[in-house]
Amino acid sequence: MSFQMTEEEQKLLSDCVRGYAGLVFSGAQEYLFQKRIKRRMDANKLVSAREYYHFLRFDPRRDDEMRELINLLTVNETYFFRETPQIEMVSRELLPALKERRSREKTVRIWSAACSNGAEPYTLAMLVLESGLFQAGGWKVEIFGTDINSEVVQAARKGMFGVPAFRGTDEALRKKYFTPAGAGQWEIRDEVKKMVKFSQMNLHNRAQMRLMRDMDAIFCRNVLIYFDTEGKREVSEMFHDSLAPSGYLVIGQTESLFKVTTLYTIVPMTNVLLYQKPSAPPGGGK
Ligand SMILES: C[S@@+](CC[C@H](N)C(=O)[O-])C[C@H]1O[C@@H](n2cnc3c(N)ncnc32)[C@H](O)[C@@H]1O
Repeated sequence: MSFQMTEEEQKLLSDCVRGYAGLVFSGAQEYLFQKRIKRRMDANKLVSAREYYHFLRFDPRRDDEMRELINLLTVNETYFFRETPQIEMVSRELLPALKERRSREKTVRIWSAACSNGAEPYTLAMLVLESGLFQAGGWKVEIFGTDINSEVVQAARKGMFGVPAFRGTDEALRKKYFTPAGAGQWEIRDEVKKMVKFSQMNLHNRAQMRLMRDMDAIFCRNVLIYFDTEGKREVSEMFHDSLAPSGYLVIGQTESLFKVTTLYTIVPMTNVLLYQKPSAPPGGGK
């Protein structure tokens, strides 16, 4: 028997998910949304979407249930060295710029803000190592990887990857930074693993976002596409607060903050656009 929600149930549940995580499902994705809701209804032995809505809103186990639902709803597609022009820009322009701007403090802070299974922050760690820029002279490079999905954060901490994760990786780099772990899996070497600190974090949770401060660069690639304009605005404004003055925001190559926020300056790098927090806000505010 096929399952279908009423329009009202669809709205109640999608508003709930939009309010919690910013995720928006429209058009063809509504079908997927309903299928995932049904899966959680079955897991909880609930027969109607309305009952599930009440469970999600008012049951004492609602936080755990929201976590389970979000784990099902997020798209966690990722791989190492994703989007070559951006990767080249990081090595050629961004890392040297970060080194220069922190030449006094000798500490650089980079945040991969929706890091999925860790491929992105581990890529950044490998680029830092490959650059050789921070090896001598007492430098500390802190890389943070966060994601709302508890399962991918767990996987990221494990650091075990299958073949698809390497579709953008040079064979030489795979051999250098990973060890074969059998059954088509490769484990990231400790040298890289220890450079990244992982935690679960919701980009739409202001209290959590306030913990991230003084970042030199934030990577939030291929995530904003799942939010509506208001959601993109909220998150990009919170990133602005998390960045140090003149810090950089890197979004996906096909994403844009056009008509979303005017808080950033656009910096053209080779083949790529970067967003930068101005060094002093107009009027000397925050
Ligand atoms: C398509 S992956 C992108 C991963 C990586 N940034 C990349 O470009 O390869 C999108 C990630 O965003 C995460 N995500 C979605 N909504 C989020 C939110 N509100 N807070 C934090 N992470 C979120 C998902 O769990 C998923 O892992």
